[in-house]
Amino acid sequence: MRLTHLLSLAIVSFALTSAVQAQAPSDDAVHGKELFASKNCALCHNADSEEKKIGPGLKGLYARGTMQDGTKVTDASITDRIVNGKAPMPPYKDQMTDAEIKQVVEYLKTL
Ligand code: HEC
Repeated sequence: MRLTHLLSLAIVSFALTSAVQAQAPSDDAVHGKELFASKNCALCHNADSEEKKIGPGLKGLYARGTMQDGTKVTDASITDRIVNGKAPMPPYKDQMTDAEIKQVVEYLKTL
């Protein structure tokens, strides 16, 4: 009886902790937002709307599920797009580290 009680308490507190963690933007996403500005992504992309600038607006990208050219949105495909670019978007493989690109991807997921 007592043990079951303790167990359910543990489960509830675990669930609460995960819920809070899911809401707070990760450190990666916070750094990614800074990179989005400093690496000039924002020159070509709106982050707060779907409206096209030079490239597609990136708000709701992951919810949309497909890129402008029909490619399925996954961490791998988005990473590939940033690493290799797609004219007129420049490739970023020489301008950003793998870790930085991952941070930008985490940020894009929050849009
Ligand atoms: C010179 C302008 C330019 C810059 C700078 C740029 N992009 Fe792009 N980006 C584009 C264009 C144009 C496309 C659309 C390519 C296509 O599908 O033909 C695109 C496509 C994308 C896509 C796929 C979106 C979709 O719906 O097709 C993502 C994600 C993306 N860019 C992220 C970034 C990130 C992150 C950066 C900065 C590290 C960045 N871009 C910098 C122009 C740019």
